[in-house]
Amino acid sequence: MLLAVTHRVADVTTLKTPLLIVPVPKGALPTSLAALDHTCDGAIARCWASGDFTGAKDETALLYSAHGPDRLLLIGIGEGDQVTAHSLRRAAMIGGKRARVIGSPSATLWFDPAFALKVSADRAGQSFAEGVPFGAWHFLDLKRPPESPKPVFERCEIVTAVASAEFTAGVTRGNGIAAGQALTRGLQVLPGNKCTPTYVAECAREIAERHGFTITVMDKAAITKAGMKALLAVAQGSAEDPRFIIIEHNGSKDAPVVFVGKGVTFDTGGISIKPAPNMEDMKYDMSGAAAVLGAFETIGYLKPKQHIIGLIPSCENMPSSTAYKPGDVVGSHLGKTIEVVNTDAEGRLILADALSWARQYSPAAVIDCATLTGAIVIGLGHTAGGLMGTDSALVEAVRAAGEAADERVWELPIWDEYRELIKSDIADMKNSGGRAAGSISAGWFLREFAEGYPWAHVDIAGTAYTDREMPTQVKGPTGVMVRLFAEYLLARS
Ligand code: BES
Ligand code: MN
Ligand code: ZN
Repeated sequence: MLLAVTHRVADVTTLKTPLLIVPVPKGALPTSLAALDHTCDGAIARCWASGDFTGAKDETALLYSAHGPDRLLLIGIGEGDQVTAHSLRRAAMIGGKRARVIGSPSATLWFDPAFALKVSADRAGQSFAEGVPFGAWHFLDLKRPPESPKPVFERCEIVTAVASAEFTAGVTRGNGIAAGQALTRGLQVLPGNKCTPTYVAECAREIAERHGFTITVMDKAAITKAGMKALLAVAQGSAEDPRFIIIEHNGSKDAPVVFVGKGVTFDTGGISIKPAPNMEDMKYDMSGAAAVLGAFETIGYLKPKQHIIGLIPSCENMPSSTAYKPGDVVGSHLGKTIEVVNTDAEGRLILADALSWARQYSPAAVIDCATLTGAIVIGLGHTAGGLMGTDSALVEAVRAAGEAADERVWELPIWDEYRELIKSDIADMKNSGGRAAGSISAGWFLREFAEGYPWAHVDIAGTAYTDREMPTQVKGPTGVMVRLFAEYLLARS
């Protein structure tokens, strides 16, 4: 697996590398490529003249020449005046993926800042360091090793013509974020029989020990003692015991920022069982939890002078003779009662107890993320997460962080009118409001428990994983929310 990306200054014409990756803008052959073209016996100019490659977004050309690098990979980043940090990150992802697929043991990414005049040096460095390992990521741990394995892509350096402390600082930051993304995706991809609530807790403990965070793992007895009745109700159908994880970075004495992640390690739907097709995707129902742990992995590298707490309620949602049933009325940590009309609306139940638990910290802000509703996939597809919240400044900060991270989120209203959807005849509320405005009624349910602090919620059911191969990544986990959380913290500092 590709580890951290490094940065050094060198003359591009002197580079000996199995793979030279060059992000190139659309238009005429850039003059700064002339020297490299000369080294490569005119291969770049011939490619340009053929019209096969124009520098359009996502376009690639792989060139071979007798001199210069063994392989040269040109990657289009689109019109020069429209190139953003996202264009560079995307090119780096495509380059990283290609390097891994080719089986190049190492690669060099050469960057000419003239190709991205609107992007600051630190943002460029960060984008490359985030992008190359992201694109290269894949998961083979559960396959037998191939008989004749290809070389593993494990080293990448970025080369620029001139030194820039800002660029190098950006690379360092990007490396921390990339480590968090890799950790999140590694947890997401694990199947339900490996990634149990106990496993998530062990993973959290390992992260905490490595980076010096404070950690508390509550087992079933402790969860019962704490009165987290909604979490217990979901967990009661499974032989796997639940866990409630509290991880803390004490980088300042200020009121903390709290990140909360849904950690349902497998969601069958329970007695309101889901249909069989694609049910295997419900191993991803702990993506919120994985994102919080990935954010802490990043925090461990970047050590921000901030007080940050991660909360993870984790359990399985199973049908069994001990499972909670439709019609059951259950209590909660906050004391409010809930009529369970659908056992498949379990995420909001476990998050309710976590949001209630968060009150004791008098937090400056609480942001939860969860693969919460299929309705958000209908509403926003796989392009954006659904954002809701009670505090307009926090909602705007989360939206802006998503923009900076290129993990976009779009606000949905939780107006008073929607509260009616979760009105119950016999309890304080019911856990499902039906199909109409399904993501909003889920948001309203959470809002009932997010008392006394600024709160925002991101529904990542559409963005946590992809069901097809992409130019930028393999099919599977996206690690979404790690970059958003990181950008949120950066903007706050
Ligand atoms: N984990 C699911 C939501 C989900 C759906 C995640 C698709 C990823 C992809 C959640 O627990 C769920 O089952 N939600 C129900 C709620 C309904 C019963 C009110 C849904 O969306 O159908
Ligand atoms: Mn469910
Ligand atoms: Zn679920």
